[in-house]
Amino acid sequence: MTGAREALAWWQGAVVYQIYPRSYCLADPSGRRARLALGAGSPPDRVRDGAGDLEGIRRHLDHVAELGADAIWLSPIYPSPMADFGYDVADYCGIDPLFGDLDTFDALLADAHDRSIRVLLDWVPNHTSDRHPWFEDARRSRTSAHRDWYVWRDPDPLDPARPPNNWKRAFGEGPAWTFDELTGQWYLHLFLPEQPDLNWATPEVVEAMEGVLDFWLARGVDGFRIDVVHGLGKPPELDDVPDAQADIPYSALNDHDSTHPILRRLRAHVDRWPQQPLLVGEVFLIDAGKVAKYYGNGDELHLAFNFAPMFSPFSGVSFRRRLEEIEATLGPVDAWPTWVLSNHDRPRHRTRFGGSERRARAAAVLSIGMRGTVFLYAGEELGLEDTEIPDELAVDPGGRDGCRAPIPWDASAEHGWALGGSEAWLPFAPNATTLNVANEARDDSSVLALYQRLIEFRRRSSALFDGDLQLLEAGPEEVLAFRRGRREKAFAEAGEGEVVVLVNFSDVEQPVDEALSGPWVVEVGSGGEGSLTTEHELFAGRLGPEEAVILRRPDRGAR
Ligand code: GLC
Repeated sequence: MTGAREALAWWQGAVVYQIYPRSYCLADPSGRRARLALGAGSPPDRVRDGAGDLEGIRRHLDHVAELGADAIWLSPIYPSPMADFGYDVADYCGIDPLFGDLDTFDALLADAHDRSIRVLLDWVPNHTSDRHPWFEDARRSRTSAHRDWYVWRDPDPLDPARPPNNWKRAFGEGPAWTFDELTGQWYLHLFLPEQPDLNWATPEVVEAMEGVLDFWLARGVDGFRIDVVHGLGKPPELDDVPDAQADIPYSALNDHDSTHPILRRLRAHVDRWPQQPLLVGEVFLIDAGKVAKYYGNGDELHLAFNFAPMFSPFSGVSFRRRLEEIEATLGPVDAWPTWVLSNHDRPRHRTRFGGSERRARAAAVLSIGMRGTVFLYAGEELGLEDTEIPDELAVDPGGRDGCRAPIPWDASAEHGWALGGSEAWLPFAPNATTLNVANEARDDSSVLALYQRLIEFRRRSSALFDGDLQLLEAGPEEVLAFRRGRREKAFAEAGEGEVVVLVNFSDVEQPVDEALSGPWVVEVGSGGEGSLTTEHELFAGRLGPEEAVILRRPDRGAR
């Protein structure tokens, strides 16, 4: 537990910035054309030519540093046929020529480390691409060396067209099984047919994957975001799910005990590395109690995403419940929480919350104020919304294009992308002539400037960085109020450096002084339309509509 604590301590107050490489920035189109061996006569391909690259990420690391983020997580950059835009991996130890090569990756990693930014890769162990050499070999014959690396079942002789069980796949309608004509068996895929599930009960799979982790750890990466980690251990009998669950993709249901020994082994494996890599898992089970098990006894995941807030409306009652759940579930097992409002799989929270900038600002204060490691999805710091994608431009089989709209770097026609007159792979995020990095960096009242102030204070404030959390009664239920600082005793004694976070989810002014004793200063305020507070001035006990603040004691400042 002690080692686990040390490795985790750095990450507890950290802000991790998720980059979706296709959508971040295109900087080196000629390098791409050369890597893909595309000649002058190659037909234009929007999805290929208009995607971002690793060089684009490298050149914008100063933006990440100025934002104050501690680490980046890169969605998959490995060679892939891109059926699921990289979450279908054809080679775990390479870089897709679309994005760059290992040299560009090493340069990006070195430049990130020079800025004290850690780098997490997205590791996709539940499934490979159907074009991965392992699967290509597996499907060649029933006796192939890699046959058992995947999950195969015989057809039912009485009803050969019926899949082996009632599991549903994610993305589109259909079973989690595809019949392989050549070898006459079904193979399992919780996602697309192009993403066959690996069989983690086969020891060679575990060993091969440990080799993959070592490959990247030897290059110096700081850890992994693990895709669909709760999928690794499947029930050996592969029984039907109850009818009531048969319409839910099985990827949101699998929760089998056999995953835990796998995780303990992987954790022990990475713990041997001097950089003490982080393992943060996508446990897409939504229920905090179920997710908590994946932390083990400090010997499985360091962190697991807490996704419930991505399904919460803009409501004080709802977010209070989320906080209560997390504190009650993770607290007793000493598991450190995470907070995620947006990612590459869900509509951006500004869009989910109705689109107003005021709400996006309040959400910024909320996310940076909470107890736990914060994951920001690139573009969130600009207050971006989803783009509405016309049908003819839609490309994602899961309907997630809107939140993957390219990041606008400036107000020019190509928004800082080296497009050379061609189109980006998806239309830019809305209002890109005003909501872009260059514009917002010049404007103290921008959403970007707000995130910068929030993150900067989070770094200075030990209360906010890794302090405890105590919910407060602030009167109206649409006002969420909590205190951050050292243990309950210190709270009662007005402990040094304590801070209070207040979020008014209602669209009317609210008095909130009942929850507070003594004078407080507004350290950071969401501002925006109708704001009633001014930063660095005494808090007058009222919040404007949908306004949020972080307060500190006047005499002590932050520590
Ligand atoms: C995870 C990823 C998602 C991907 C899926 C299959 O949920 O976040 O983008 O499509 O796994 O790999």
